[in-house]
Amino acid sequence: MPMQLQQSTWPEVERYLETSAGVIVPIGATEQHGPIGVIGTDAICAEVIARGAGETAGALVGPAIAVGMSEHHMRFPGSMTLRPSTLIALLSDYVGSLAAHGFRRFFFVNGHGGNIASLQAAFFEIYNEMRRAGFADAPRVRCKAMNWWQPEPVSALARTLFGAADGSHAAASEVAVTQFVDAANIKSAPLDPPVAPRGGFYNSATFRERYPDGRIGSNPGLASPEAGRRLYDAAVAAVAADYQAFLAEA
Ligand code: NI
Repeated sequence: MPMQLQQSTWPEVERYLETSAGVIVPIGATEQHGPIGVIGTDAICAEVIARGAGETAGALVGPAIAVGMSEHHMRFPGSMTLRPSTLIALLSDYVGSLAAHGFRRFFFVNGHGGNIASLQAAFFEIYNEMRRAGFADAPRVRCKAMNWWQPEPVSALARTLFGAADGSHAAASEVAVTQFVDAANIKSAPLDPPVAPRGGFYNSATFRERYPDGRIGSNPGLASPEAGRRLYDAAVAAVAADYQAFLAEA
């Protein structure tokens, strides 16, 4: 059967649920990624890696959540954000919908650091709602999020490929994955300085002041489709293995 929920029929989903209560959910963001990274970078990476992991693990993949919590990027045209409270509510309804059909283990493949706090908050909102509602199967509903770039094989490969110039926003590694996915849409623009400054920020204004072209610590000019293919392969293998371990937990 197709491994994507949206490409499946309801009888196919019913049969899938006889063998598995797990689902993989990609979650990304729609926000600026510097002068050569596309605005959908986080959503694209999360979705392709989730689909690849779904194929490898035989898991159903839910529809991608393509807009995330990107408040700090709002001084750059094209960026979109959900308020944290909106994202938490969206995640709660997403999980609640699928839990109503029997799904119990929700594995989120995350492509955006700004989503992490809302994901963790949403998981406890979900557990709280289900416990208070007296849902008998509440103890079996479990949610887990994994940032695709964090497993050791992936982060080690990124270090090998780009060193410290991978950076932390508009990273060479994430731009490389999008180049692998869509080699016809590779952008080029001057990157000055080649490696962007590093540091923190408070809000959209301090972000734009400190990182005027949108990058933090990165040189995405080092990205290539071939590097993206290697990162994709490493991430798919790591995500699939972690998903399977999550399903196998008692
Ligand atoms: Ni990103």
